[in-house]
Amino acid sequence: MGISTRSSTNRKPSESMRLIVTTFVGVVFGFFIGVSFPGLTAKLNLPSSLLPSIDVSYIQEKYAGGYAPSLVKNKSSISSEYQSLNDTLKIWVPSNPRGAERLPPGIIEAESDFYLRRLWGQPSEDLTSKPKYLVTFTVGYDQKHNIDANVKKFSENFTIVLFHYDGRTTEWDEFEWSKRAIHVSVRKQTKWWYAKRFLHPDIVASYDYIFIWDEDLDVEHFNAEAYLKLVKKHGLEISQPGLEPNKGLTWQMTKRRGDREVHKDTEEKPGWCSDPHLPPCAAFVEIMAPVFSRDAWRCVWHMIQNDLVHGWGLDFALRKCVEPAHEKIGVVDSQWIVHQSVPSLGNQGESQSGQAPWRGVRERCRKEWTMFQSRLANAEDAYFKAIGIDMFNSTNP
Ligand SMILES: *[C@@H]1O[C@H](CO)[C@@H](O)[C@H](O)[C@H]1NC(C)=O
Ligand SMILES: *[C@@H]1O[C@H](CO)[C@@H](O)[C@H](O)[C@H]1NC(C)=O
Ligand SMILES: *[C@@H]1O[C@H](CO)[C@@H](O)[C@H](O)[C@H]1NC(C)=O
Ligand SMILES: *[C@@H]1O[C@H](CO)[C@@H](O)[C@H](O)[C@H]1NC(C)=O
Repeated sequence: MGISTRSSTNRKPSESMRLIVTTFVGVVFGFFIGVSFPGLTAKLNLPSSLLPSIDVSYIQEKYAGGYAPSLVKNKSSISSEYQSLNDTLKIWVPSNPRGAERLPPGIIEAESDFYLRRLWGQPSEDLTSKPKYLVTFTVGYDQKHNIDANVKKFSENFTIVLFHYDGRTTEWDEFEWSKRAIHVSVRKQTKWWYAKRFLHPDIVASYDYIFIWDEDLDVEHFNAEAYLKLVKKHGLEISQPGLEPNKGLTWQMTKRRGDREVHKDTEEKPGWCSDPHLPPCAAFVEIMAPVFSRDAWRCVWHMIQNDLVHGWGLDFALRKCVEPAHEKIGVVDSQWIVHQSVPSLGNQGESQSGQAPWRGVRERCRKEWTMFQSRLANAEDAYFKAIGIDMFNSTNP
């Protein structure tokens, strides 16, 4: 994670010696203070430490109408005053975030961002701008030219986060934009693994829209700012750019249409869609280049499973997060991309029983899809059972 820890194990012998001597001198000094001023130690030996007594007297000064006790008092008087005040002075705010109920609401910062700050000067003057959008790419250094081209399609209104699955980060500094990007380096993890760990909704709460993209997208015909204009215009909470249909296309839904700005449904092969409002005919985008609104992401993040790292099946379930899904999920046609299907992380598996590494990865993807489907089905079933509806014996499932 690029956080270096300094080791203290190889301290030089002379340093250890100095430490021992310093400690010894400190102990002796403390002893003499104790002997020379017995009253002082007794007085300082207050409720348990000096700090609470200062707190209390400060609060007393502030709230008890000018009654200002001296800092050092005897134990019984402090504790009796403390007790008479503790009812009114104890803080408990149930509406605070869970676990932070003891804090006064005014000090709580429940949300964060990726804005870079300076080490000096006025904190209020740190930020010259606050990007409203966030784009993340899960990258290996081999794809640097494509990522460079991608990043250039995102204006200064975007915070850029790179998740490095190959451990190479400093090499990226050859690009000017890299110095203001956030780099997270963890080897051989997937986009959804990073997203679950580093894009908690409270961490990315400053951003109106979040792009969680693969590294192998050709963005020649794409402009992020223009894209978002269409997303807002058509009320899309979850979206993706249309895919140019030359290769790697699995679903009709995400295929780019030349004749419109946006589409929200499609026709599939006969029998593929039980309902025209449901995936894969509507309420559906793929997981290679999704764009989430803040609210949609808050929901989707919660649905991502910690152990199902490939995210297969997630695309069919995105609709659970927006209502009505067939109106708020869609594909932007006039800002479109080409999926280049460059083998990347998929090739980073382990070779098992003579198979090519990518086979093991693919196998796991499929397995995860099944697992995710059954977890979701079980969860829904359990919920409806709990409120007295049997899903397997219901007229409208
Ligand atoms: C400590 O404070 C209590 C209550 O104010 C008082 O009755 C007592 O005499 C004090 N003891 C000393 C040693 O000052
Ligand atoms: C002060 O707080 C303690 C612990 O919460 C409680 O047991 C005690 O009754 C309180 N004192 C008064 C005077 O309310
Ligand atoms: C960035 O956002 C501001 C405010 O919304 C807008 O005026 C500006 O045009 C945006 N920049 C680009 C390059 O689109
Ligand atoms: C289905 O529901 C009906 C009416 O509530 C009930 O009579 C029937 O036994 C249920 N069937 C099953 C398989 O649970």
